[in-house]
Amino acid sequence: MAAGLSRAGSTTSSLAILFLCFFSFSEAKDYLVGGKPDAWTVPSSQADSLNQWAQSSRFLVGDSLVWKFDGEKDSVLQVTKKDYVNCNTSSPIEEYKDGDTKVKLEQSGPYYFISGAEGHCEKGQKLIVVVISLKHRGIHSISPAPSPAEVEGPAIAPSSGATSFNGGLMVAVGVLVGFVLV
Ligand SMILES: *[C@@H]1O[C@H](CO)[C@@H](O)[C@H](O)[C@H]1NC(C)=O
Repeated sequence: MAAGLSRAGSTTSSLAILFLCFFSFSEAKDYLVGGKPDAWTVPSSQADSLNQWAQSSRFLVGDSLVWKFDGEKDSVLQVTKKDYVNCNTSSPIEEYKDGDTKVKLEQSGPYYFISGAEGHCEKGQKLIVVVISLKHRGIHSISPAPSPAEVEGPAIAPSSGATSFNGGLMVAVGVLVGFVLV
């Protein structure tokens, strides 16, 4: 009897911790581009490129990108895909020169950024960030197709955030119950 009660208690507190994890997981995050200050620069190698960095992160709608750089020498241009490919700096969608730049990712899909410093984009100072919606609302409109790391869970039946939330909890409860019973 007493054992049963404490078992229920520990399951409940484990669930509470799980809830907290889910909530902190869905909080908006700031990402320092390149993972360190002054990373907005010509990369020394392909392996060191900003896109390499971007592939290791998962950007959600509501998150922000932060750039730290010397605003006298460089800038961040948000451009179209075409201008990204051609390194065309002449007509950016947005231009950020203050060196302490924060861009909120308001919608799902790809964002393209290039350096405004002459010749830098050609040398690889450019960045694509693919933003996904937690609620999978934008899943059909994302192009290019998100990489496997960016789509959570089984590819079949993309579900709403609420359903996968419950699904995750059910699995977690199953695991916890299995744990307690062993
Ligand atoms: C760059 O973009 C501008 C405006 O879209 C265009 O007029 C110009 O021809 C482009 N330059 C190159 C080199 O593609």
